[in-house]
Amino acid sequence: MNKKLSEWTIDEMESLYMQLGSFRKCAKELCCDPKTFRKYYYSKKNEINNHDADMLCNDMNNTLNNILKPITNNSITPDLDTAIQTIQNAGWFVTKKPLQRNYTFDLDIEPTETNIYKVGIISDTHLGSKYQQMESLWKFYEKCEREGITTIFHAGDLSDGVNMYNGQQFEIFLHGERAQAQYIIENYPKIDGITTEMIGGNHDESFYKRYGSDICYDVSIQRPDMKYKGFYLANFNIGNINICIHHGDGGVAYARSYKPQKLALSKIENKDTPTPNILAIGHYHATCILPDYVGIYTIQMPAFQSSTPSYMGRKGLNPDIGGIILEFEESEGKLVSTKTQYVNYRTVENDY
Ligand SMILES: [Fe+2]
Repeated sequence: MNKKLSEWTIDEMESLYMQLGSFRKCAKELCCDPKTFRKYYYSKKNEINNHDADMLCNDMNNTLNNILKPITNNSITPDLDTAIQTIQNAGWFVTKKPLQRNYTFDLDIEPTETNIYKVGIISDTHLGSKYQQMESLWKFYEKCEREGITTIFHAGDLSDGVNMYNGQQFEIFLHGERAQAQYIIENYPKIDGITTEMIGGNHDESFYKRYGSDICYDVSIQRPDMKYKGFYLANFNIGNINICIHHGDGGVAYARSYKPQKLALSKIENKDTPTPNILAIGHYHATCILPDYVGIYTIQMPAFQSSTPSYMGRKGLNPDIGGIILEFEESEGKLVSTKTQYVNYRTVENDY
């Protein structure tokens, strides 16, 4: 046996191993150390496994490419739905990368008078929670309809999500992304002529963190009137006015204006994006309106969820329930007047 160990193929080594029954006997046969034989055996075996894995990946890529061939421009088509279903039926999990935050969108909203616009703003509907306020949410949409509003902004936390705090599991009546998404698709206010422009909040993101699914995206696919504009932050141009919808972070401050002041300042300091004229902040469930702080019309939003015992109750927080109707007039890119209507609702118990 003059052949070097490195020159042996894995098939030859395996055949010898099967014949002799142990690495020690193989090593003795080849006049080498058992550790050296084992090292070569496994390194050659891994080469084969890696090669097989590469081949498998190539096969998978080819299969996916064939399935996805008809799809162009990243648009959702029946072919993509079929492809995703085919892949999932084969036991794979398919998810879509959520939109990045901080996109800017142009909205074509009809002014109510020359250079005067009127929009609705809501936040934190937390649907799926036993403390959701669906009846009041509908009332707000109907009020917006009566006032001729065609666009309502939603500043995040459309759903109540999953595993957000200890005890949340006892405070939701729908468990899992699919149940909450389906409920929202079927029950979220739908009024002809009204479009909801929404961003995702931390409760919505809980599904993405846990399962890789994006509930706002899933809802928006089934509800064309609900336009999903990414997580946490989106900017909208209406005429020459920029409205920033932002879902905040952390708890509400003792001084209610502290968080909106800090966020408004951060918009001034951020040189990468234009400073908004109007800033609407979700997440805090506590209303605070600062008409001209550092030149930004800043609104910290109320919510459509009453106090949850395990989180807000324990912290002694009493959320504001309601929405905002905002009328504003622009002149040469500046806000020259604003009219804010704070529409407040009483808690409806067991509104689910
Ligand atoms: Fe939130």
